[in-house]
Amino acid sequence: MKALILSGGAGTRLRPITHTSAKQLIPVANKPILFYGIEAIKEAGIRDVGIVVGDTYQEISKAVGEGKKWNIKITYIKQEAPLGLAHAVKISRNFLQDEPFVMYLGDNIIKQGIKSLVEEFQEKSSHSQILLAHVENPGQFGVAELKEDKVVRLVEKPKQPKTDLALVGVYMFDHHIFEAVENIKPSWRNELEITDAIQYLIDKNYLVHSHIINGWWKDTGKPEDLLEANRIMLSDLEVAVDGEIDGNSRISGKVRIEKGAQIVDSVIRGPVAIARGCKIVSSYIGPFTSIYYRTSIEESEVEHSIIMDECKISGLKARIEDSLIGKSVVISKSTLKPKAYRFMLGDSSQVGTI
Ligand code: G1P
Repeated sequence: MKALILSGGAGTRLRPITHTSAKQLIPVANKPILFYGIEAIKEAGIRDVGIVVGDTYQEISKAVGEGKKWNIKITYIKQEAPLGLAHAVKISRNFLQDEPFVMYLGDNIIKQGIKSLVEEFQEKSSHSQILLAHVENPGQFGVAELKEDKVVRLVEKPKQPKTDLALVGVYMFDHHIFEAVENIKPSWRNELEITDAIQYLIDKNYLVHSHIINGWWKDTGKPEDLLEANRIMLSDLEVAVDGEIDGNSRISGKVRIEKGAQIVDSVIRGPVAIARGCKIVSSYIGPFTSIYYRTSIEESEVEHSIIMDECKISGLKARIEDSLIGKSVVISKSTLKPKAYRFMLGDSSQVGTI
């Protein structure tokens, strides 16, 4: 069995962060989203993994490398344009050969992992196994209609969804999927949809098995999804305080502070993750916050947020909450006259003031 991870998407709903960085590398509980998928695949016993990449190929290959970190073998497959998930399967044929495979969308996190689901697929020897989950906003996903437990229809982002069962971004296929992707037409958004390819399998009476998952799953396409994922993954954090904590600081709850991080005169109330090289001075870091490499926070308060690497935050009068802050962002109190807000914001940035 092989695995194919799709990491080509543009991440338009996460701009401006994705103007410069791959969405699959945004850290959730201080770990790039993509790494959760790689770990789930490895845990399922798969060692041969292809990653479909687009414009962010350089960044993704730099972060993931050849897979040595996980003791797996990674092959990169370049998708010249984002022409759809089924197109990604089509261009991966050389890598996949005729082996069954699991296709994993690089921005999805399934908390329970996929080991038992892959085993179920192998035992049932169906042509495809899809995962479904009950959601509140089915119109934003591929939606399944079932008849006595059998999938009869799949529709991509329907205006009027017939059920609340969304297609989760993890699929299992055998080689019949290649026949399907060769026979479907691009959708209204000019993409070859994997949803249409699976519908082709159903129409041709190939065996498509569905499994409704009850555990927590997220497609981290929007900022609020990332904050929720961060919350869920931080709740499971293994406590480890390896950084330097001075005598004036108080640490409580589930907290992971990596070696080389410094906490001075501050209150850290978990679940919180603070990465290597961070410096927190005279500040409060509250629950559900993760702070990535080499960020410094001084005389400020932060709660329920993701702060990425090399940021500088200082002297803020109000607490930062519910925020997603990209790399190398500077937020500080200005002493310049006249007293004013002074911004340098990228396209699609969002600022909420009091
Ligand atoms: C894709 C699929 C959709 C599926 C979703 C899960 O949507 O097209 O059927 O429900 O992933 O994450 P996209 O992320 O391309 O909008």
